[in-house]
Amino acid sequence: MYLLGILTALICAHRALALTTGSPYTSSLAQHALQKVLHDASEIFGLPAPPSTRTNVSLSTWMSTYPDEALLTSLTIPGAHDAATWNYSGARQAALRPVTDLLNASLSDPRAYRCQRRSVAAALEAGVRFLDLRYAPDATGTRLVFWHRDALLGEAAGVEELLFAVFAWLRAHASEAVLLSLQYEGATRAGAANSAAVQRMLFDVLTSPAARSHLLQTRALGTLGEARGKAVVVRRFDMDQLPAEYEEALPGVHLSPAQWVDNSANITLVYNQSTGATAYIEDLYSPDSVPLSANASSNIAAKLEAVATHLHEAANGSEEDLFVTFASGQRLDAEIPVYPETMALGSGTKATPDGGVNQQLLPTLKELAGRRLGIVVLDFWDEPGALVEAVLGL
Ligand SMILES: *[C@@H]1O[C@H](CO)[C@@H](O)[C@H](O)[C@H]1NC(C)=O
Ligand SMILES: *[C@@H]1O[C@H](CO)[C@@H](O)[C@H](O)[C@H]1NC(C)=O
Ligand SMILES: *[C@@H]1O[C@H](CO)[C@@H](O)[C@H](O)[C@H]1NC(C)=O
Ligand SMILES: *[C@@H]1O[C@H](CO)[C@@H](O)[C@H](O)[C@H]1NC(C)=O
Ligand SMILES: *[C@@H]1O[C@H](CO)[C@@H](O)[C@H](O)[C@H]1NC(C)=O
Ligand SMILES: *[C@@H]1O[C@H](CO)[C@@H](O)[C@H](O)[C@H]1NC(C)=O
Ligand SMILES: *[C@@H]1O[C@H](CO)[C@@H](O)[C@H](O)[C@H]1NC(C)=O
Repeated sequence: MYLLGILTALICAHRALALTTGSPYTSSLAQHALQKVLHDASEIFGLPAPPSTRTNVSLSTWMSTYPDEALLTSLTIPGAHDAATWNYSGARQAALRPVTDLLNASLSDPRAYRCQRRSVAAALEAGVRFLDLRYAPDATGTRLVFWHRDALLGEAAGVEELLFAVFAWLRAHASEAVLLSLQYEGATRAGAANSAAVQRMLFDVLTSPAARSHLLQTRALGTLGEARGKAVVVRRFDMDQLPAEYEEALPGVHLSPAQWVDNSANITLVYNQSTGATAYIEDLYSPDSVPLSANASSNIAAKLEAVATHLHEAANGSEEDLFVTFASGQRLDAEIPVYPETMALGSGTKATPDGGVNQQLLPTLKELAGRRLGIVVLDFWDEPGALVEAVLGL
């Protein structure tokens, strides 16, 4: 709210001055203020890739090839699971120790938290259009920042800064729409709760003037045409500690955590009782039917089976239903922990001769090319190199 206040004040001051003096002074100050916000955001959003390093420019505008009338639910949309974790390493963990120590966090191996290695900016340029983001208050409890379980991912880039960066990207890519999945991360510290104060902070960020003009304001997944140039909020949080008007005033679709069955290969979630709008979700993030003593290959095989089954159901399902398939997973409690990277890419050793879920998914994606797959949420979406294209059926 503080940042928005400054920007709004600057823009108002600029308008007032422009009317009286025409001075460019406040205009450049507003530019500097935006640069400052984008700089802070870059810790989680990343920096825009220089044009020479962009892999395939047409992927940055792939939605431009679909007609306005296409329903968002009828598209195949690549996603990035835990998109904010791309630079989480031992160095980042150490740099944030002074803060996490205040919360008495006993953090695990950084590999247990890291699910990506390319930035959010790079993901958007490469065609990813669904961002899975997890927020909770920072150590002071005054603003919302990004976490993966008890791992704080950054301090400068909060939810508000990241929204500005996504909005700036959308301004430059007006044919595109970005689905922003925001989930309250519960396990950040002892006693953490999605309290009225936390809910109010998120409400304020999602109803600011900048948010109102850049977030799709409907409460349904409509057509691509109405969503172009906008971010569509997927609400993986409840507003149950506030009066009902707060929930009713929020845009986007509500995939309530209360209905989201934990670690399930086959969730049916009716997200709008009056329209019957339904989401079918595969989110088996830890294939716990496999014994803890089993090797990484067996865990990868179990996850792959859930993913392939769900993609077939998506291909055959009604185009008005939302399908979300998480190809991401882990098995941290196994005797030899299977980190997200091992699940996605294999370990690069004899233990995983066929690679991970990402490599082994390619034949299924080839078989289903051209079919509607819905949202396909990936870990380490950048490997193998043509994975996003394969999801898109290109
Ligand atoms: C870029 O992507 C488009 C669409 O995905 C594809 O048709 C084209 O072959 C790709 N070009 C290169 C150089 O990879
Ligand atoms: C990644 O994190 C490290 C440690 O905090 C930091 O030094 C580095 O600048 C970050 N890299 C990028 C690309 O932001
Ligand atoms: C952290 O541990 C200290 C010492 O046990 C305790 O005083 C403090 O309240 C704890 N802080 C939190 C946030 O749990
Ligand atoms: C259900 O969908 C209708 C039509 O889009 C919308 O007006 C209403 O707000 C939605 N209800 C909820 C609870 O999202
Ligand atoms: C998932 O649920 C749907 C609807 O309840 C059912 O038709 C389908 O067979 C289930 N698939 C699996 C793999 O359990
Ligand atoms: C769709 O359903 C039909 C009939 O149940 C089945 O034969 C076909 O293999 C399914 N297609 C896919 C892509 O799963
Ligand atoms: C993993 O375990 C399965 C089941 O015990 C076994 O068949 C397979 O050969 C093992 N794979 C590797 C690469 O060790």
